[in-house]
Amino acid sequence: MSRDTNLSDPLARLADMERRAALGGGQARIDKQHEAGKLTARERIAAFLDEGSFVEMDKFVTHRCADFGMQEQKILGDGVVTGHGTVDGRMVCVFAQDFTVFGGSLSGAYAQKICKVMDLATKIGCPVVGLNDSGGARIQEGVESLAGYADIFLRNVMASGVVPQLSAIMGPCAGGAVYSPAITDFILMVDHTSYMFITGPEVIKTVTHEEVTKEQLGGAFTHGGKSGVSHFTEEDELACIARLRELLSFMPNNNHEDPPVRPCADPANRENLALDSVVPAESNKPYDIKKIITGIVDEGAFLEVHKDYAKNIVVGFARFEGRSVGIVANQPQHLAGCLDIDASVKAARFVRFCDCFNIPLVTLVDVPGFLPGTAQEYGGIIKHGAKLLYAFAEATVPKVTLITRKAYGGAYDVMASKHIRADINLAYPGAEIAVMGSDGAVNIIFRSELDKIKDETERAAARAKFTAEYREAFANPYKAASLGYIDEIVRPSESRAAICRALRTLRNKRQSNLPRKHGNIPL
Ligand code: HXC
Repeated sequence: MSRDTNLSDPLARLADMERRAALGGGQARIDKQHEAGKLTARERIAAFLDEGSFVEMDKFVTHRCADFGMQEQKILGDGVVTGHGTVDGRMVCVFAQDFTVFGGSLSGAYAQKICKVMDLATKIGCPVVGLNDSGGARIQEGVESLAGYADIFLRNVMASGVVPQLSAIMGPCAGGAVYSPAITDFILMVDHTSYMFITGPEVIKTVTHEEVTKEQLGGAFTHGGKSGVSHFTEEDELACIARLRELLSFMPNNNHEDPPVRPCADPANRENLALDSVVPAESNKPYDIKKIITGIVDEGAFLEVHKDYAKNIVVGFARFEGRSVGIVANQPQHLAGCLDIDASVKAARFVRFCDCFNIPLVTLVDVPGFLPGTAQEYGGIIKHGAKLLYAFAEATVPKVTLITRKAYGGAYDVMASKHIRADINLAYPGAEIAVMGSDGAVNIIFRSELDKIKDETERAAARAKFTAEYREAFANPYKAASLGYIDEIVRPSESRAAICRALRTLRNKRQSNLPRKHGNIPL
């Protein structure tokens, strides 16, 4: 309390306390934060929420630590700014760690503030957004800080699937502290100013003798592309904050609501003739599946999630007729669109997010199968691939699947096939739905017959005949259509109309799974 304030005047006292709370760790530390290219906690919140909508909670909370001279260093708010406000007029709870106060480190009181705002969010059914910038556990508080983390982790778990939880990493996030963001639905990192790791470079050097910088170990590039821990890499804090707002626009506020609907000027039956020539006739030629995605969704707007990770599968948000969908699509341009461990895990988590929050799934399939190799087998492709199968099968949101070219083998089943409860399954006329490609199939089922033919020219002719027969039988969508596994064959140019129609049909879909405590997804 500044000594010149007249404490007997309640208004003056409040104003003084508010002024001090707003200063956090003081002007010098605020300047240091700016010099590091970072905004303060309050500046971040102001940029994130609709103007003037922020209502701060617990502004005058202080820590309770009396050790190491801490009783002399009480700062109003204690290093985290919490409260609620609106984004595009919709309620959001928010906390922003304040690095200017003890390096944003977490005390018991600080943890209680976060828990309180999380409890409010789950009670009123709105997303929780965390803006992270912290040196981790408040070292002076010891186990009280660790307990505080655990209280937050528990709430993260309990809120999972109830309200969306987003984490922006805007500075350090190290040690066990990483587990709160890790449980949340999406992590965004700011390039070059944020990092996440369990143990830092010094510990690593001691234990494994590896030399690595903070940035190499846990920067946005590493987690966006290598580990897949983070879903978005943003070039600066304002871009990160804009992305948070955009991301929220695709989600409902809680699991009982549907996502918000945007006005849409893009006609549902818009034909796109360019799409007729995107998929090459040769089944082994790559093409960019994003050309199809942007060619069919409202105004071509696609928010890609995990853009730099497991590029053989593309996931993200878009809209049809103004309504959010989650898109999952094999990418023939990378690893021929094969499913591997990373792609399976990436897509499974995305599918489960969409299912939690009533976001219909649109799946585009062009998959030659699971990626072969010892690295995949030893890495557990069996259990990881099963995650995607499990996620699609379990999902009860509207599911529309479009096979653009190949749907081979087990991957056909996994990629939201009719058999695991996709609602409407479409295919292009050039789609090939089979156990495997024609060449591979002929090699196996006609091997002994071909081996009997000694003349090479004759053998080649026989192989060509068998291949043509197999292709005729299976390398098209009509066998699957005749069995009812494909509901409709659509021209590429008419994909948007067909998907809009399907989603409209399914708008009031109601489906539930058998009652159980919870399933046991192969982790
Ligand atoms: C208390 C801390 C602190 C902490 C930083 N500060 N981290 N105070 N507890 N964990 C204080 C500093 O003393 C300093 O105070 C101010 O915050 C700014 O820190 P600087 O070191 O000057 O900043 P910078 O150079 O930018 O370095 C940031 C940093 C570094 C890399 C985060 O401070 C650091 O390494 N801190 C310790 C990190 C750590 O080991 N945390 C515990 C991890 S274990 P003054 O007064 O000088 O401004 C953990 C377990 C969680 O978190 C388990 C959960 C289950």
